[in-house]
Amino acid sequence: MGMQRVAVVGAGTMGTGIAQVAAQAGFDVLLIGRDPEKMKKRAEGIRSTLMRLVEKGRLSPKDAEAALSRLRTGAGLDAAKDADIVIESVAEDVKVKVEVLRTLDLLVRPEAILASNTSSLSISELAASTKKPERVVGMHFFNPAAVMKLVEVVRGTDTNDATVAATKEFAARLGKTPIVVRDVKGFVVNRLLFLYMNEAMISLQEGISTAEEIDTGLKLGANHPMGPFELADLVGLDVALSILESLHDEHGGRFRPTPLLRDLVRAGHLGRKTGRGFYTYDKK
Ligand code: CAA
Repeated sequence: MGMQRVAVVGAGTMGTGIAQVAAQAGFDVLLIGRDPEKMKKRAEGIRSTLMRLVEKGRLSPKDAEAALSRLRTGAGLDAAKDADIVIESVAEDVKVKVEVLRTLDLLVRPEAILASNTSSLSISELAASTKKPERVVGMHFFNPAAVMKLVEVVRGTDTNDATVAATKEFAARLGKTPIVVRDVKGFVVNRLLFLYMNEAMISLQEGISTAEEIDTGLKLGANHPMGPFELADLVGLDVALSILESLHDEHGGRFRPTPLLRDLVRAGHLGRKTGRGFYTYDKK
């Protein structure tokens, strides 16, 4: 099937990473945000990421230039109208996502796929705001999107087989490995991962050990590339809290976010992106 034009709506960390991967995989990519000035910065950011890969010898200068030539940025959803697949990666807020999907549904061609990179909202609920819920699917990428190999392809109640098959094929062309999951809160990976991160926070609160030592424990004792606190800071503590809240709503007690996590979020310490979370970082 001839999928070639990809639009990514939302130019945050995830959207930018997804656009980069799609351009590197040979797709014509349009990265759409709200603010034209910010979009220039995003395009520059992708250029410098690719240049770093060139310096490291991971990417040839020719491939980097080819990827950049396939990547455009824009402001305004109208620009997505010719896309074969649109991946929305806007704020994790049901109202915002519904508004974006409803608008896209009226704009794009009837055979285009509308994918949502939500990590904790219901695909069926998002799809219900469109006239063609059968072509709405979840495509849950992991952070950092350019590096992590997994994509959870989420089948909503009305998502049809053709949409699931085309989305799996698209994920494979991005160089990712798709797994198909049912539309339950947390899907497969976050349900397990955030339960584990929450337990790490409970252990810290109970004074079992320090954040550094718990991280060392999991890295050296279980071969995790990052410990739970490093990972929480990477993901963003606000994101971690909202995922835990949504898991708690659906699955109950054991997912209850710790007071420690709530305190940090209330204080605006959201992890790497604010320079402080469980650890402190040099602000960029
Ligand atoms: N594009 C392409 N390649 C990139 C890249 C980019 N933007 N950034 C880095 N890379 C490549 C590097 O070149 C490097 O490649 P080689 O191994 O071939 O040299 C590789 O990616 C690893 O990068 P680094 O050497 O910079 O870093 P690292 O080895 O310390 O690994 C890490 C960093 C990949 C983040 C690793 O620590 C890791 O896997 N951590 C766990 C991440 C994780 O669990 N994420 C899931 C979070 S949960 C989530 O995302 C779901 C949700 O809904 C919130």
